[in-house]
Amino acid sequence: MTQDELKQAVARAAIDYVVDGEIIGVGTGSTANFFIDELAKIKDRIKGTVASSEATAARLRAHGIEVYDLNEVESIAVYIDGADEITDTGAMIKGGGAALTREKIVASVSKRFVCIADGSKLVGTMGTFPLPVEVLPMARAAVMRQLAALGGQPRVRTVVASDDIFITDNGGEIIDVAGLSITDPVALEAQINQIVGVIAVGLFAARGADVCLLGTADGVKTLTF
Ligand code: A5P
Repeated sequence: MTQDELKQAVARAAIDYVVDGEIIGVGTGSTANFFIDELAKIKDRIKGTVASSEATAARLRAHGIEVYDLNEVESIAVYIDGADEITDTGAMIKGGGAALTREKIVASVSKRFVCIADGSKLVGTMGTFPLPVEVLPMARAAVMRQLAALGGQPRVRTVVASDDIFITDNGGEIIDVAGLSITDPVALEAQINQIVGVIAVGLFAARGADVCLLGTADGVKTLTF
């Protein structure tokens, strides 16, 4: 099976976690896009969605799915999203698609977090995938010095095939930190959150996944945490 077929399989399996009549939180990225396309097939069963990025909102709307502003919503039944890395305790690195801050906010008000990922995302220790950190532009250099002091190699994310700095939906910038071996994700998440100028860190450990649907050659495996 190709990686896309594995992503499609977990996206399809995630439909079983959609709660009828409720608002569904929807993540960002290629796996989340497959989920949106599956959700479109059962859109009449849900009240609507909250999107974790402008790109996700646009894809949902293109399918005729209602997208609510988070300020209009009190709670979300389930949040469904991909990950860049996930451990066997449900801690994740996210933000490869630059939507980490909104993803974290939507996840924080969701009763259940269902991670959908192809099998390559399951790791023993996180950190091979560079850790994304969203920062206020004026704090970029100051935050990078502090991230380097933690032992990482920080690099500002640029627009693909250009030297222009990438700007997020929130007007922030992304620093990708390579070379970290994340043995205590909860502690590192708290530590990076304390750096002034950081908007959010792409470590989802304090609030990790509750369930992971992992796409493998042997079928979709369900991990619960
Ligand atoms: C978006 O900002 C990310 O958190 C994505 O959830 C993550 O990068 C996974 O993306 P793919 O599903 O494209 O691998």
